[in-house]
Amino acid sequence: MTITGVRGEERSDFTKQEGKRLRQRSLALLGSLLHPVRVRVYWTLVIVVISTAAQVAGPTLLALGIDQGLTQVVTNHNWLPAQLIVAAYVLTAITSASMMAIYMRSSAVISQSVLLDLRERVFAHTQNLSMSFHENYTSGRVIARQTSDIETLRELLDGGISNLFRGILLMTFTAAALIALDPSSAIPLLVALIPCYFLTRWFSDTSKKQFREARTFSARLIVQFVETMTGIRAVKAFRREERNEKSYALAVDDYREANRKVIRLFGTYDPGLKVIGVFTLAAVLILGSFRVANGAMDVGVLLAAVLYTRRFFEPMEELAMFYNSFQNASSALEKVSGMLEEQPSVTEPANPVHLAHPQGKLDFSHVRFGYNDSAVVLPDLDLHILAGQTIAVVGTTGAGKSTLAKLVARFYDPTSGTVSLDGIDLRELANADLRRAIVMVTQESYLFSGSVADNIGLGKPNATFDEVKQAAIAVGAHDFIMRLPEGYDTDVNKRGGRLSAGQRQLLSFARAFIADPTVLILDEATASLDIPSERLVQQGLQTLLADRTAIIIAHRLSTVSIADRVLVMEHGEIIEDGTPEELIEGTGKFASLHTAWRDSLA
Ligand SMILES: Nc1ncnc2c1ncn2[C@@H]1O[C@H](COP(=O)(O)OP(=O)(O)OP(=O)(O)O)[C@@H](O)[C@H]1O
Ligand SMILES: [Mg+2]
Repeated sequence: MTITGVRGEERSDFTKQEGKRLRQRSLALLGSLLHPVRVRVYWTLVIVVISTAAQVAGPTLLALGIDQGLTQVVTNHNWLPAQLIVAAYVLTAITSASMMAIYMRSSAVISQSVLLDLRERVFAHTQNLSMSFHENYTSGRVIARQTSDIETLRELLDGGISNLFRGILLMTFTAAALIALDPSSAIPLLVALIPCYFLTRWFSDTSKKQFREARTFSARLIVQFVETMTGIRAVKAFRREERNEKSYALAVDDYREANRKVIRLFGTYDPGLKVIGVFTLAAVLILGSFRVANGAMDVGVLLAAVLYTRRFFEPMEELAMFYNSFQNASSALEKVSGMLEEQPSVTEPANPVHLAHPQGKLDFSHVRFGYNDSAVVLPDLDLHILAGQTIAVVGTTGAGKSTLAKLVARFYDPTSGTVSLDGIDLRELANADLRRAIVMVTQESYLFSGSVADNIGLGKPNATFDEVKQAAIAVGAHDFIMRLPEGYDTDVNKRGGRLSAGQRQLLSFARAFIADPTVLILDEATASLDIPSERLVQQGLQTLLADRTAIIIAHRLSTVSIADRVLVMEHGEIIEDGTPEELIEGTGKFASLHTAWRDSLA
């Protein structure tokens, strides 16, 4: 029992600290977002203070009008004080309204600026994060950050925060005005604050839990939707529709139930506040009536006290409403700031080495690597590739071939040891030079919206149309492109411009060709091509690979024949290394693979 107790306390200590850290992180982000518009924030604050003060002056002026102005009219037929007071009343009302208009506009400008800034930051930051982040953080979560989280913040900024602030200001000023006008009428109000405090605390504690639950369920809905739609082919192929519908319906039910709880909570809090408000008002009225009857209080002051008391509770209901969006937004802010806190694991050094004319010599020395601490993928890799060499890498599934390629492209850094290009550690190399020197083409040949020519031209900034065409001819893509409805101008996302997997692959070859890298990595990049187009590509490849270093990862042994050297990998180690002829003639794994392959062709 004691042990659990101690652990429980430790944990709550830990979560308290963690909560504090999260809040600080969120506030720091908010501060940095507000920094560029801080001057506007300051004068907007001044304006709202003036507007609220003018608004609060109303009942006091009414009291003055009734008690002083009216008395003067009745007793002395002197209209002047009453006229002055009415003029002042109108003036404060106009001031308050016009200041309020300026305040609304100005706070909208602030919220727009903050949101656009945040959107840009989230986009740029997510894009800059390393592969390790993107391979671990599901796309649904990334999308939720950029969409629903920012949307929640928008709701808060667009209405919530200015109303929240104005509400608090209004309550403070109203209470202050009441105390200044007639301290004894303020007593019921001060007493009412006690139940208000407990009610609000109960509400805030309970709602925090329930809002979090509601948000978790809503995020789950998004993730499930994104996953189903991105995997729609697998969904159809395995007829998962019905099962997905059921699990989606369950998630919807959970979400509905969570929302129902939240609504029920408001259903208690809101009337609770109203009841407290009504009792307080009644107390002020009864106490005041006695004092008026005794001549201890003027009627005007009683009217003002009643108005103030009512006004005091008005924003409170509003505050409860905005508490909702405030809670949502603060958790959204926590998540967004958490993502902005993620640092790229692969970074450019402060003083990078520039490599204007790379030769293409690659060296792995004592490279150890794992995606996480628990499993080592490459235990100790030593590999030296001469400039201009064409290397074929074969091996069983999961042997570490793609991992080797990702290390060359510096999507990851080794845990220990070094990967270097022309003797320079990749970690020292300038990013721009690295990306120009080393290009990796994978099986997933992603096409961006735009024309065929745009997609090929992506490989080289400011490529001319002629260069694009030459690249397409070199890799054997020109013929099929000419058969598309609008040739090179065909939109790849429009009907008719939709390409097959093999065609997409040819385009990504052309993209790599035009980029003209010193080191080219093809990871299973020929897998979707039929034999004739693979032959075509191979002819193109041979000219393409002539004067550059190439690493070709392939399951098809036909691709291997154009290599100068073949590596056979297993469990993260190179178990065979030699020319294709040497390995075929040997007795190793490659020889047996090759025999099996040749037999299958026969
Ligand atoms: N992003 C990742 N996070 C964690 N582990 C990974 C990740 N990518 C790959 N692995 C693990 O690393 C090992 C090597 O994977 P790798 O992709 O390099 O294999 P491969 O040789 O390319 O296989 P294949 O022929 O199937 O493409 C596998 O055991 C795999 O489970
Ligand atoms: Mg692979």
